[in-house]
Amino acid sequence: MKTLLQINASMQKQEAQSSKLSDAMTNALLSKFTGMRHIKRDLSKDPIPHLDQGLFQSFHDPKAAGTPAQQAGLALSDTLVSELIEADFIVLGVPMYNLMIPSTLKAWIDFVTRARQTFKYTERGPVGLLEGKKCYIAMTQGGSFLGTTNDLVTAYLKVALGLIGITDIEFIYAQGLALGPQAAEAGISEAHKKIAKISQITQAA
Ligand SMILES: Cc1cc2nc3c(=O)[nH]c(=O)nc-3n(C[C@H](O)[C@H](O)[C@H](O)COP(=O)(O)O)c2cc1C
Repeated sequence: MKTLLQINASMQKQEAQSSKLSDAMTNALLSKFTGMRHIKRDLSKDPIPHLDQGLFQSFHDPKAAGTPAQQAGLALSDTLVSELIEADFIVLGVPMYNLMIPSTLKAWIDFVTRARQTFKYTERGPVGLLEGKKCYIAMTQGGSFLGTTNDLVTAYLKVALGLIGITDIEFIYAQGLALGPQAAEAGISEAHKKIAKISQITQAA
């Protein structure tokens, strides 16, 4: 049975555009792969703590997890890593906040980027250990950054996910959401067109 891991990072609830697009992409995949296991995380509802020194040491050596907070953090990281290892598909809903990804998503990345589990160090640098995963990222922006040097989010996500071996990434952009109703509608419509196109290709596969 295939597994889909969906992660929404918006702090908004029902009205979050990135979550709606991530839901649309997820539903397209679930309708193609009937019975697919679906793991869904809302990082705003269930936030992941920031890393600290003790927790980071616990990631390297579980025996170092001396406090209840470190033990809980290590257990959460182990769960998040397992979800990622089991996932065939990953769908992320990512709004741009202050030119970057939400810090809640950065915390998730910090918890799944684990030496010997999702990447290893080699003489030539780190090598990702996750393989064969398809990742879709629904990204919303108030402005319009795509193709400019200010689009740090696309570059960051490619490198950060690439570090752990997730290299097959498709971006679904909804831009211009704060540039007036027409621009917002056009941005959302563009994203839905992309999802429809991806679904057609996936259906045909
Ligand atoms: C705290 C905050 C920071 C934001 N920073 C940016 C930004 O740097 N660039 C941008 O284009 N839009 C920015 N926006 C606008 C959001 O990206 C936009 O409203 C998007 O639709 C939010 O996604 P959501 O609807 O999924 O919550 C920001 C919004 C918030 C709330």
